Amino acid sequence: MTQRVGVLTGGGDCPGLNAVIRAVAKSLIRHGQCEVIGILDGFEGLMGEAPRVLPLDWLRVSGIAHVGGTILGTSNSANPLRDAQTLARVARNVRALALDAVVAIGGDGTMSLAHGLAGAIGLPCVGVPKTIDNDIAHCERSFGFDTAVATATEALRRIESTASSHHRVMIVETMGRHAGWLALESGIAAAADVILLPEIDYDVDAVLAHCQAREQRQRYTVICIGEGAKARGGQMTERERVAHSPDPVRLGGVGHVLRAQLQPRLQSEVRTTVLGHVQRGGDPTPFDRVLATRFGHYAAKLVIQRRHGRMVTLQRGRIHSVAMSDVANVQRTVPPRHELVVMARDIGVCLGE
Ligand code: F6P
Repeated sequence: MTQRVGVLTGGGDCPGLNAVIRAVAKSLIRHGQCEVIGILDGFEGLMGEAPRVLPLDWLRVSGIAHVGGTILGTSNSANPLRDAQTLARVARNVRALALDAVVAIGGDGTMSLAHGLAGAIGLPCVGVPKTIDNDIAHCERSFGFDTAVATATEALRRIESTASSHHRVMIVETMGRHAGWLALESGIAAAADVILLPEIDYDVDAVLAHCQAREQRQRYTVICIGEGAKARGGQMTERERVAHSPDPVRLGGVGHVLRAQLQPRLQSEVRTTVLGHVQRGGDPTPFDRVLATRFGHYAAKLVIQRRHGRMVTLQRGRIHSVAMSDVANVQRTVPPRHELVVMARDIGVCLGE
């Protein structure tokens, strides 16, 4: 009997989404007896009076593996579990589309919503982890992260050349929410002098001392700070709150906070660059294209085997799956004694301690 399989991308976009969509659709189409239907704008595409979809045939998903963004669109404020009416519309739309399963490609928030929908309306789901933050539990590397690290590293290197010319302290703020993986790996790759992570509250005096010592010798400093970092005894810097979003807090601006903390006590000029969405946009690296394709291919296998409630994952270099319930709303943060943290400290990088 033909299976009708929905595919959606939820949460913030991420390089490699199209490669997953292509691999899911092509694997299912090649397997036979599967019809693949793209759901537009994440769960939002199921929340209206009628479903919004894009049929995914072979031609529609060809030529997209290397392209950034998602051909399906996404939303990180759609909450299908918001209230009883919304849930009823979602259930009606799922019935109208006669979906046998949905492949939900997203972060921990999307996994939690998919898991919630499975419980609330019996929608069978398979999850594929995506995020440039690399913070999904039980998954050692999500696609999109490699691309974001490459972008942030390139930006940090460019900032270094202008910092050294002007003898400035330059602060570069990366994304990453509550996880410092992006700041840590790009900071190490770009040989940043100071790396500040959400997982290790920084001591302003320690960062100052490091910058002051460099003022005497190298005469410039590059600081890489994750957006979720905060000073000891301080608060995280919120950019805004988005009403009704399953994850309403949007971070951003800690680089400016740090500048205000440092500037009065330094001779050099201090400047801040917030990298923002350039880290999420653009074409995926070859590594991310391959990883995304592996994830999509495996997700199709889970659908074919009707192993619903599972999320594809990468552990010790191998693709397999974990229960979505184990991943929903859990974040994989940088352990303060992680090998890369210890190494950075040992080679003289200031971690704000
Ligand atoms: O989770 C991915 C992410 O890019 C975070 O690193 C960042 O905090 C957030 O999304 C930004 O979301 P928005 O695009 O809604 O500002």
